Amino acid sequence: MIITPIINGVVARSAHPEGCKQSIDSQIEYVKNAKQIKTPPKRVLILGASSGFGLAARIALTFGGANCDTIGVSFEKGPSQKGIGTAGWYNNIFFKQRAQQAGRRAINIVGDAFSQDTRDQVIEAIETYFEGEVELVIYSLATGVRPKGNGEFWKSAIRPVGQSLDGSIIDLEHDRWIDTVMPAATENEIEGTLKVMGGEDWESWIDTLINAEAVAQGCKTIAFSYMGPEVTHPIYLDGTLGRAKIDLHQTSHFLNIEMANFGGSAYATVCKALVTKASVFIPGLSPYLLALYKVMKEKGTHEDCIAQMQRLFSDKLYGNENVPVDAERLLRMDDLELDADVQSQVADILKDMDHSNFKTLGDYEGFKSDFLKLNGFSYDNIDYLAKTDITRLKKLVP
Ligand code: NAI
Repeated sequence: MIITPIINGVVARSAHPEGCKQSIDSQIEYVKNAKQIKTPPKRVLILGASSGFGLAARIALTFGGANCDTIGVSFEKGPSQKGIGTAGWYNNIFFKQRAQQAGRRAINIVGDAFSQDTRDQVIEAIETYFEGEVELVIYSLATGVRPKGNGEFWKSAIRPVGQSLDGSIIDLEHDRWIDTVMPAATENEIEGTLKVMGGEDWESWIDTLINAEAVAQGCKTIAFSYMGPEVTHPIYLDGTLGRAKIDLHQTSHFLNIEMANFGGSAYATVCKALVTKASVFIPGLSPYLLALYKVMKEKGTHEDCIAQMQRLFSDKLYGNENVPVDAERLLRMDDLELDADVQSQVADILKDMDHSNFKTLGDYEGFKSDFLKLNGFSYDNIDYLAKTDITRLKKLVP
């Protein structure tokens, strides 16, 4: 069959396996040529390893100087009657192939990270492949739901808190700007978002690992956060997601004390805003991303997920006697984004941006291309008219 991009609003419904392979290869190429990671860990567990920051972290740690072995957990779908499967499914497969070719261990566990079954599989994999211990745990889940364990679910809702908010979303399916009003979150939505995207599950994973005696001496753990400039605060930091992230920051301090028992540490790592499967969902953030991409690319300071992760491990988390943190003990990777001149130019663009001019005032081309690339499309050197052999794809296992 010939695979074409299918987008519903901001959700990709198809993925191109060859393009996913190309995406893995490009990221590997980037980290091989970047500043290398020194004094790294060797055995790494990544929760949310198949796309975005988690995948980039996995690639950086395996190919960017550290030569790590990794266990990656993700929730992805393979090919079936219903469709070709998700990009993350193929990312898992092609990452593992490349890692094994380089002599590294790469174990993929595809399942719900909130479930006991997945936890059991991870502990078993750590015992089997990592001599029972991990030296770095990366928590990079992004999801909309978390099971309560009784058949019900907490659901996250990306909403302002206290009052409704005017904002705009970009419909990637029709290349359209849509003005919308986001209603204020209900108490239920605030609680749901905190449960899904706050620190509780990160903490429970670390407890699971400690109870299984799977935490190595000196083990570090990180989880990703976003704060952003003031212009994004009404929908992000002051909204439901921000509450969840502040909870995650507090969890990092608590976990840091727990990890100190093993000579280790825990950090909430504040990253730059980037186009990922998860972020295009956030109403109000897309116009900001368009302006930010435009300004940072013009200034030559734009970083994508892989550049952020390579710099995180080579400059900040490893190779320093003390991990550099801010006054709130947060590890900041958003320094270039929050540069005063960048933000003043972004604010100027946003003042004038609307449905009529977003494609030219902002970097819509880069935004859309990054979105398509997340799903294996928009690579110049791939023949998208060539037929894909589904029977062969079905034989590939993560
Ligand atoms: P993503 O959507 O690209 O990746 C999410 C990962 O979580 C995937 O590997 C997916 O398979 C996995 N996952 C989701 N639900 C799961 C489940 N139930 N069980 C197992 N695996 C599951 O997301 P992205 O953007 O990389 O986000 C990761 C973290 O980074 C999030 O905490 C996000 O808030 C944070 N972040 C994202 C920024 C952005 O601009 N994209 C900026 C700063 C922080």
